[in-house]
Amino acid sequence: MGVRSVVPRTLRPALLALTGVLVLSGCAGSSLDQSGGQQAGGTVKIGLLVPLSGVYAPLGEDMRNGFQLYLTEHGGKLGGRTAEVVSADEGEGPQTGVPAAQKLVTQDQAAAVVGVVNSATALGLRDFFHESKKPLLIANAGANDITGARKSAYVWRTSFANGKVSAALGPAVAKEVKEGVYLIAADYAAGREMVAGFRRTFEAAGGKVAGEKYTPFGKTQDFQPFLSAIRGSGAKAVYGFYAGAEAVSFVKQYQQFGLAESIPLYGTGFLTEGGVLDAQGEAAVGVKTSLHYSTELGTPRNKEFIAAYRKAYDEAPTVYAVQAYDAAAVLDKALAKAPGGSGEELVKALGGVGPIDSPRGQWSFDADHDAQQKYYLREVRSSGGAVVNAVVSELG
Ligand code: PHB
Repeated sequence: MGVRSVVPRTLRPALLALTGVLVLSGCAGSSLDQSGGQQAGGTVKIGLLVPLSGVYAPLGEDMRNGFQLYLTEHGGKLGGRTAEVVSADEGEGPQTGVPAAQKLVTQDQAAAVVGVVNSATALGLRDFFHESKKPLLIANAGANDITGARKSAYVWRTSFANGKVSAALGPAVAKEVKEGVYLIAADYAAGREMVAGFRRTFEAAGGKVAGEKYTPFGKTQDFQPFLSAIRGSGAKAVYGFYAGAEAVSFVKQYQQFGLAESIPLYGTGFLTEGGVLDAQGEAAVGVKTSLHYSTELGTPRNKEFIAAYRKAYDEAPTVYAVQAYDAAAVLDKALAKAPGGSGEELVKALGGVGPIDSPRGQWSFDADHDAQQKYYLREVRSSGGAVVNAVVSELG
Protein backbone atom coordinates (compact mmCIF):
# COMPACT_ATOMS: atom_id res chain seq x y z
CA MET A 1 0.00 0.00 0.00
CA GLY A 2 0.85 3.65 -0.53
CA VAL A 3 2.88 4.51 2.54
CA ARG A 4 6.09 2.94 1.24
CA SER A 5 5.90 4.40 -2.22
CA VAL A 6 7.68 7.36 -3.71
CA VAL A 7 4.59 8.06 -5.82
CA PRO A 8 2.12 10.16 -3.82
CA ARG A 9 -0.65 7.92 -2.51
CA THR A 10 -3.42 9.96 -4.14
CA LEU A 11 -1.89 9.52 -7.59
CA ARG A 12 -1.12 5.83 -7.37
CA PRO A 13 -4.49 4.27 -8.23
CA ALA A 14 -4.90 6.46 -11.31
CA LEU A 15 -1.34 5.76 -12.39
CA LEU A 16 -1.75 2.04 -11.91
CA ALA A 17 -5.06 2.03 -13.74
CA LEU A 18 -3.34 3.66 -16.67
CA THR A 19 -0.30 1.38 -16.73
CA GLY A 20 -2.47 -1.73 -16.24
CA VAL A 21 -4.61 -1.02 -19.28
CA LEU A 22 -1.66 0.00 -21.44
CA VAL A 23 0.44 -3.03 -20.60
CA LEU A 24 -2.40 -5.47 -20.97
CA SER A 25 -4.03 -4.10 -24.09
CA GLY A 26 -0.50 -3.94 -25.51
CA CYS A 27 -0.36 -7.72 -25.02
CA ALA A 28 -3.69 -8.11 -26.77
CA GLY A 29 -2.47 -6.58 -30.01
CA SER A 30 -4.56 -7.06 -33.13
CA SER A 31 -6.15 -10.34 -32.00
CA LEU A 32 -8.58 -8.36 -29.83
CA ASP A 33 -11.75 -10.39 -29.46
CA GLN A 34 -14.78 -8.19 -28.76
CA SER A 35 -17.03 -11.12 -27.87
CA GLY A 36 -16.02 -11.28 -24.19
CA GLY A 37 -13.87 -14.36 -24.64
CA GLN A 38 -16.19 -16.42 -26.84
CA GLN A 39 -13.43 -17.29 -29.26
CA ALA A 40 -11.04 -20.13 -28.44
CA GLY A 41 -7.38 -19.09 -28.52
CA GLY A 42 -8.10 -15.34 -28.88
CA THR A 43 -8.14 -12.61 -26.31
CA VAL A 44 -10.19 -12.88 -23.15
CA LYS A 45 -11.52 -9.73 -21.56
CA ILE A 46 -11.64 -9.65 -17.75
CA GLY A 47 -13.28 -6.87 -15.77
CA LEU A 48 -11.45 -5.77 -12.63
CA LEU A 49 -13.78 -4.04 -10.19
CA VAL A 50 -11.95 -2.64 -7.16
CA PRO A 51 -12.09 0.65 -5.25
CA LEU A 52 -9.86 3.23 -6.90
CA SER A 53 -11.32 5.91 -4.61
CA GLY A 54 -12.66 6.18 -1.06
CA VAL A 55 -11.72 4.63 2.27
CA TYR A 56 -10.82 1.24 0.71
CA ALA A 57 -8.77 2.54 -2.26
CA PRO A 58 -5.47 1.14 -0.89
CA LEU A 59 -7.07 -2.34 -0.70
CA GLY A 60 -8.12 -2.03 -4.33
CA GLU A 61 -4.59 -1.14 -5.29
CA ASP A 62 -3.26 -4.26 -3.57
CA MET A 63 -5.80 -6.42 -5.41
CA ARG A 64 -4.89 -4.89 -8.71
CA ASN A 65 -1.22 -5.57 -7.99
CA GLY A 66 -1.89 -9.19 -7.04
CA PHE A 67 -3.95 -9.85 -10.17
CA GLN A 68 -1.36 -8.15 -12.38
CA LEU A 69 1.51 -10.11 -10.79
CA TYR A 70 -0.13 -13.42 -11.68
CA LEU A 71 -0.56 -12.25 -15.27
CA THR A 72 3.03 -11.05 -15.52
CA GLU A 73 4.26 -14.41 -14.19
CA HIS A 74 2.14 -16.20 -16.82
CA GLY A 75 3.03 -14.21 -19.93
CA GLY A 76 -0.14 -12.09 -19.75
CA LYS A 77 -2.29 -15.19 -20.42
CA LEU A 78 -5.21 -16.90 -18.70
CA GLY A 79 -6.20 -20.36 -19.90
CA GLY A 80 -3.89 -19.97 -22.91
CA ARG A 81 -5.57 -16.72 -24.03
CA THR A 82 -4.14 -13.23 -23.86
CA ALA A 83 -5.89 -11.41 -21.04
CA GLU A 84 -7.13 -7.90 -21.55
CA VAL A 85 -8.00 -6.33 -18.22
CA VAL A 86 -10.58 -3.56 -18.11
CA SER A 87 -10.73 -1.68 -14.79
CA ALA A 88 -13.67 0.05 -13.14
CA ASP A 89 -13.95 1.91 -9.84
CA GLU A 90 -16.02 0.21 -7.13
CA GLY A 91 -15.82 3.36 -4.98
CA GLU A 92 -17.23 3.12 -1.45
CA GLY A 93 -20.16 0.81 -2.11
CA PRO A 94 -23.03 -0.29 -4.35
CA GLN A 95 -23.99 3.20 -5.54
CA THR A 96 -20.78 3.37 -7.54
CA GLY A 97 -19.88 -0.33 -7.67
CA VAL A 98 -23.09 -1.69 -9.23
CA PRO A 99 -23.19 0.62 -12.30
CA ALA A 100 -19.43 0.13 -12.76
CA ALA A 101 -19.88 -3.67 -12.84
CA GLN A 102 -22.84 -3.42 -15.21
CA LYS A 103 -20.72 -1.37 -17.59
CA LEU A 104 -17.96 -4.02 -17.51
CA VAL A 105 -20.44 -6.72 -18.54
CA THR A 106 -22.83 -4.95 -20.91
CA GLN A 107 -20.61 -2.35 -22.55
CA ASP A 108 -17.08 -3.78 -22.28
CA GLN A 109 -18.34 -7.37 -22.74
CA ALA A 110 -16.08 -8.83 -20.07
CA ALA A 111 -16.17 -12.65 -19.94
CA ALA A 112 -15.93 -12.49 -16.13
CA VAL A 113 -15.54 -9.85 -13.43
CA VAL A 114 -13.01 -10.10 -10.58
CA GLY A 115 -12.63 -7.96 -7.46
CA VAL A 116 -15.18 -6.30 -5.10
CA VAL A 117 -13.94 -5.18 -1.70
CA ASN A 118 -17.15 -4.11 0.01
CA SER A 119 -19.82 -6.56 1.25
CA ALA A 120 -22.63 -4.13 0.38
CA THR A 121 -21.37 -3.93 -3.23
CA ALA A 122 -21.24 -7.73 -3.44
CA LEU A 123 -24.83 -8.05 -2.20
CA GLY A 124 -25.94 -5.38 -4.68
CA LEU A 125 -24.27 -7.24 -7.55
CA ARG A 126 -25.48 -10.78 -6.90
CA ASP A 127 -28.74 -10.68 -8.88
CA PHE A 128 -27.19 -8.89 -11.84
CA PHE A 129 -24.53 -11.59 -12.31
CA HIS A 130 -26.98 -14.39 -11.59
CA GLU A 131 -29.41 -13.10 -14.20
CA SER A 132 -26.84 -12.16 -16.84
CA LYS A 133 -25.15 -15.57 -16.40
CA LYS A 134 -21.69 -14.02 -16.14
CA PRO A 135 -19.16 -15.24 -13.57
CA LEU A 136 -18.32 -12.91 -10.68
CA LEU A 137 -15.17 -13.87 -8.75
CA ILE A 138 -15.23 -12.01 -5.46
CA ALA A 139 -11.67 -11.49 -4.27
CA ASN A 140 -12.47 -9.82 -0.97
CA ALA A 141 -16.02 -8.87 0.08
CA GLY A 142 -17.13 -11.31 2.80
CA ALA A 143 -20.96 -10.89 2.85
CA ASN A 144 -22.22 -14.20 4.29
CA ASP A 145 -25.27 -14.60 2.05
CA ILE A 146 -23.17 -14.51 -1.13
CA THR A 147 -22.08 -18.07 -0.39
CA GLY A 148 -25.10 -18.85 1.78
CA ALA A 149 -28.78 -17.97 1.44
CA ARG A 150 -28.23 -16.11 -1.84
CA LYS A 151 -25.58 -18.34 -3.43
CA SER A 152 -25.55 -18.43 -7.21
CA ALA A 153 -24.03 -20.72 -9.83
CA TYR A 154 -22.38 -17.56 -11.19
CA VAL A 155 -20.83 -16.14 -8.01
CA TRP A 156 -17.57 -17.53 -6.52
CA ARG A 157 -15.32 -16.27 -3.76
CA THR A 158 -11.54 -16.59 -3.38
CA SER A 159 -11.42 -14.70 -0.06
CA PHE A 160 -13.53 -15.51 3.04
CA ALA A 161 -17.00 -15.18 4.55
CA ASN A 162 -17.29 -12.51 7.26
CA GLY A 163 -18.92 -15.02 9.63
CA LYS A 164 -16.06 -17.52 9.25
CA VAL A 165 -12.97 -15.29 9.53
CA SER A 166 -14.44 -13.67 12.67
CA ALA A 167 -15.79 -16.89 14.22
CA ALA A 168 -12.29 -18.39 14.03
CA LEU A 169 -11.12 -15.94 16.73
CA GLY A 170 -13.92 -16.31 19.32
CA PRO A 171 -12.66 -19.41 21.20
CA ALA A 172 -9.07 -18.10 21.24
CA VAL A 173 -10.16 -14.83 22.88
CA ALA A 174 -12.41 -16.66 25.35
CA LYS A 175 -9.35 -18.61 26.51
CA GLU A 176 -7.54 -15.35 27.34
CA VAL A 177 -10.42 -13.08 28.50
CA LYS A 178 -13.68 -14.56 29.81
CA GLU A 179 -15.31 -11.39 31.14
CA GLY A 180 -16.31 -8.22 29.36
CA VAL A 181 -15.24 -8.01 25.71
CA TYR A 182 -16.50 -4.85 23.98
CA LEU A 183 -17.44 -5.22 20.29
CA ILE A 184 -16.95 -2.31 17.86
CA ALA A 185 -17.09 -2.13 14.07
CA ALA A 186 -17.80 -0.03 11.00
CA ASP A 187 -21.57 0.30 10.55
CA TYR A 188 -22.36 -1.66 7.40
CA ALA A 189 -22.93 -5.26 6.33
CA ALA A 190 -19.36 -6.46 6.94
CA GLY A 191 -18.99 -4.84 10.37
CA ARG A 192 -22.27 -6.32 11.61
CA GLU A 193 -21.46 -9.81 10.28
CA MET A 194 -17.94 -9.76 11.71
CA VAL A 195 -19.26 -8.86 15.15
CA ALA A 196 -22.02 -11.51 14.96
CA GLY A 197 -19.56 -14.21 13.84
CA PHE A 198 -17.13 -13.42 16.65
CA ARG A 199 -19.87 -13.12 19.29
CA ARG A 200 -21.33 -16.52 18.39
CA THR A 201 -18.20 -18.56 19.01
CA PHE A 202 -16.90 -16.32 21.81
CA GLU A 203 -20.12 -16.72 23.82
CA ALA A 204 -20.32 -20.44 23.00
CA ALA A 205 -16.86 -20.75 24.58
CA GLY A 206 -18.10 -19.04 27.77
CA GLY A 207 -17.15 -15.40 26.94
CA LYS A 208 -19.23 -12.41 28.07
CA VAL A 209 -19.85 -9.24 26.02
CA ALA A 210 -19.46 -5.83 27.73
CA GLY A 211 -20.99 -3.65 24.98
CA GLU A 212 -21.53 -3.33 21.23
CA LYS A 213 -21.17 -0.22 19.06
CA TYR A 214 -21.18 0.59 15.35
CA THR A 215 -19.42 3.68 13.99
CA PRO A 216 -20.55 5.51 10.80
CA PHE A 217 -18.75 3.79 7.90
CA GLY A 218 -16.40 5.96 5.85
CA LYS A 219 -17.22 9.05 7.93
CA THR A 220 -15.56 8.46 11.30
CA GLN A 221 -12.16 10.03 11.71
CA ASP A 222 -12.32 10.86 15.39
CA PHE A 223 -12.87 7.71 17.48
CA GLN A 224 -12.44 9.48 20.85
CA PRO A 225 -16.13 9.43 21.87
CA PHE A 226 -16.25 5.68 21.15
CA LEU A 227 -12.99 5.07 22.99
CA SER A 228 -14.37 6.96 26.01
CA ALA A 229 -17.43 4.70 25.96
CA ILE A 230 -15.18 1.63 25.91
CA ARG A 231 -13.22 2.94 28.90
CA GLY A 232 -16.45 3.75 30.74
CA SER A 233 -17.84 0.27 30.14
CA GLY A 234 -15.16 -1.40 32.23
CA ALA A 235 -14.37 -3.77 29.34
CA LYS A 236 -11.45 -6.17 29.83
CA ALA A 237 -10.76 -6.46 26.07
CA VAL A 238 -12.01 -5.16 22.72
CA TYR A 239 -12.85 -6.93 19.45
CA GLY A 240 -12.97 -4.67 16.39
CA PHE A 241 -13.52 -4.73 12.65
CA TYR A 242 -12.01 -1.92 10.59
CA ALA A 243 -10.02 -1.95 7.36
CA GLY A 244 -8.07 0.53 5.24
CA ALA A 245 -7.94 4.16 6.41
CA GLU A 246 -10.40 3.51 9.28
CA ALA A 247 -8.17 0.75 10.69
CA VAL A 248 -5.20 3.15 10.76
CA SER A 249 -7.16 5.81 12.70
CA PHE A 250 -8.79 3.37 15.10
CA VAL A 251 -5.62 1.54 16.16
CA LYS A 252 -3.52 4.72 16.44
CA GLN A 253 -6.17 6.51 18.51
CA TYR A 254 -6.70 3.40 20.66
CA GLN A 255 -3.07 3.66 21.66
CA GLN A 256 -2.97 7.48 21.93
CA PHE A 257 -6.01 7.41 24.19
CA GLY A 258 -4.16 5.09 26.56
CA LEU A 259 -6.32 2.00 26.04
CA ALA A 260 -3.64 -0.22 24.49
CA GLU A 261 -1.78 -0.52 27.83
CA SER A 262 -4.76 -1.75 29.82
CA ILE A 263 -7.35 -3.25 27.44
CA PRO A 264 -6.01 -5.79 24.89
CA LEU A 265 -7.27 -5.28 21.33
CA TYR A 266 -8.39 -8.16 19.10
CA GLY A 267 -9.88 -8.13 15.61
CA THR A 268 -10.06 -9.69 12.20
CA GLY A 269 -6.70 -9.44 10.43
CA PHE A 270 -7.79 -6.51 8.26
CA LEU A 271 -7.28 -4.32 11.34
CA THR A 272 -3.49 -4.64 11.03
CA GLU A 273 -2.87 -5.67 7.42
CA GLY A 274 -0.13 -4.43 5.07
CA GLY A 275 0.13 -0.67 4.56
CA VAL A 276 -2.36 -0.20 7.39
CA LEU A 277 0.13 -1.82 9.78
CA ASP A 278 3.01 0.27 8.41
CA ALA A 279 1.03 3.43 9.09
CA GLN A 280 0.11 2.26 12.61
CA GLY A 281 3.70 1.29 13.45
CA GLU A 282 4.44 0.62 17.12
CA ALA A 283 0.87 1.63 18.10
CA ALA A 284 -0.29 -1.78 16.82
CA VAL A 285 2.16 -3.93 18.78
CA GLY A 286 0.28 -6.59 20.75
CA VAL A 287 -2.92 -6.52 18.64
CA LYS A 288 -4.10 -10.10 18.00
CA THR A 289 -6.15 -11.02 14.93
CA SER A 290 -7.49 -13.93 12.88
CA LEU A 291 -6.79 -14.19 9.15
CA HIS A 292 -6.07 -16.72 6.41
CA TYR A 293 -2.76 -15.07 5.48
CA SER A 294 0.34 -13.42 6.90
CA THR A 295 3.59 -12.41 5.25
CA GLU A 296 5.15 -14.34 8.16
CA LEU A 297 3.92 -17.75 6.97
CA GLY A 298 7.28 -19.38 6.38
CA THR A 299 6.37 -21.73 3.50
CA PRO A 300 8.53 -21.84 0.35
CA ARG A 301 5.44 -20.88 -1.72
CA ASN A 302 4.84 -17.75 0.36
CA LYS A 303 8.52 -16.77 0.37
CA GLU A 304 8.67 -17.10 -3.41
CA PHE A 305 5.48 -15.03 -3.77
CA ILE A 306 6.73 -12.30 -1.42
CA ALA A 307 10.03 -12.04 -3.32
CA ALA A 308 8.22 -11.68 -6.66
CA TYR A 309 5.76 -9.15 -5.24
CA ARG A 310 8.52 -7.06 -3.65
CA LYS A 311 10.45 -7.10 -6.92
CA ALA A 312 7.40 -5.86 -8.84
CA TYR A 313 6.02 -3.29 -6.39
CA ASP A 314 8.79 -2.61 -3.86
CA GLU A 315 6.57 -3.48 -0.92
CA ALA A 316 5.28 -6.54 0.92
CA PRO A 317 2.05 -8.18 -0.28
CA THR A 318 -1.20 -8.27 1.69
CA VAL A 319 -4.13 -10.64 2.01
CA TYR A 320 -5.93 -8.51 -0.59
CA ALA A 321 -3.14 -9.06 -3.10
CA VAL A 322 -3.16 -12.83 -2.40
CA GLN A 323 -6.95 -13.11 -2.86
CA ALA A 324 -6.75 -11.39 -6.26
CA TYR A 325 -3.63 -13.34 -7.29
CA ASP A 326 -5.57 -16.52 -6.51
CA ALA A 327 -8.59 -15.27 -8.47
CA ALA A 328 -6.30 -15.01 -11.50
CA ALA A 329 -5.00 -18.56 -10.80
CA VAL A 330 -8.56 -19.88 -10.61
CA LEU A 331 -9.56 -18.15 -13.84
CA ASP A 332 -6.43 -19.47 -15.54
CA LYS A 333 -7.42 -23.05 -14.70
CA ALA A 334 -11.10 -22.56 -15.54
CA LEU A 335 -10.56 -20.78 -18.86
CA ALA A 336 -8.24 -23.58 -19.95
CA LYS A 337 -11.22 -25.92 -19.62
CA ALA A 338 -13.76 -23.52 -21.16
CA PRO A 339 -12.63 -22.93 -24.73
CA GLY A 340 -15.87 -21.20 -25.76
CA GLY A 341 -15.58 -18.81 -22.81
CA SER A 342 -19.34 -18.53 -22.21
CA GLY A 343 -20.56 -17.89 -18.66
CA GLU A 344 -22.20 -21.33 -18.39
CA GLU A 345 -19.06 -23.11 -19.55
CA LEU A 346 -16.83 -21.04 -17.32
CA VAL A 347 -18.79 -21.67 -14.11
CA LYS A 348 -18.90 -25.37 -14.88
CA ALA A 349 -15.11 -25.29 -15.19
CA LEU A 350 -14.82 -23.30 -11.93
CA GLY A 351 -16.44 -26.26 -10.19
CA GLY A 352 -13.56 -28.47 -11.28
CA VAL A 353 -10.48 -26.33 -10.59
CA GLY A 354 -9.47 -28.42 -7.54
CA PRO A 355 -6.98 -27.30 -4.90
CA ILE A 356 -5.19 -23.97 -5.39
CA ASP A 357 -1.51 -23.83 -4.46
CA SER A 358 -1.66 -20.37 -2.88
CA PRO A 359 0.81 -18.25 -0.88
CA ARG A 360 -1.75 -18.60 1.97
CA GLY A 361 -1.47 -22.42 1.79
CA GLN A 362 -3.60 -24.85 -0.19
CA TRP A 363 -7.33 -24.06 -0.39
CA SER A 364 -10.28 -25.10 -2.54
CA PHE A 365 -13.85 -24.00 -3.25
CA ASP A 366 -16.46 -25.59 -0.99
CA ALA A 367 -19.90 -26.65 -2.21
CA ASP A 368 -21.17 -23.07 -1.75
CA HIS A 369 -18.30 -21.58 -3.83
CA ASP A 370 -16.51 -20.18 -0.78
CA ALA A 371 -12.81 -20.63 0.01
CA GLN A 372 -12.22 -23.57 2.34
CA GLN A 373 -9.01 -22.74 4.12
CA LYS A 374 -7.02 -22.47 7.36
CA TYR A 375 -7.22 -19.45 9.66
CA TYR A 376 -4.30 -18.27 11.77
CA LEU A 377 -3.97 -16.41 15.05
CA ARG A 378 -1.59 -13.52 14.43
CA GLU A 379 0.04 -11.06 16.84
CA VAL A 380 1.65 -7.77 15.87
CA ARG A 381 5.29 -7.83 16.98
CA SER A 382 8.32 -5.64 16.38
CA SER A 383 10.89 -7.46 14.31
CA GLY A 384 14.15 -5.97 13.06
CA GLY A 385 12.86 -2.37 13.08
CA ALA A 386 9.54 -3.27 11.40
CA VAL A 387 6.18 -4.38 12.74
CA VAL A 388 4.82 -7.70 11.43
CA ASN A 389 1.87 -10.04 11.96
CA ALA A 390 3.68 -12.97 13.58
CA VAL A 391 1.85 -16.28 13.22
CA VAL A 392 1.07 -17.58 16.70
CA SER A 393 -0.99 -20.69 15.88
CA GLU A 394 -3.55 -22.26 13.60
CA LEU A 395 -7.14 -21.65 14.63
CA GLY A 396 -9.49 -24.64 14.74
C1 PHB B 1 -16.19 -6.24 3.35
O1 PHB B 1 -16.89 -5.21 3.17
O2 PHB B 1 -16.64 -7.36 3.18
C2 PHB B 1 -14.78 -6.09 3.77
C3 PHB B 1 -14.08 -4.93 3.47
C4 PHB B 1 -12.75 -4.79 3.85
C5 PHB B 1 -12.12 -5.84 4.49
C6 PHB B 1 -12.80 -7.01 4.79
C7 PHB B 1 -14.15 -7.14 4.44
O3 PHB B 1 -10.84 -5.72 4.83
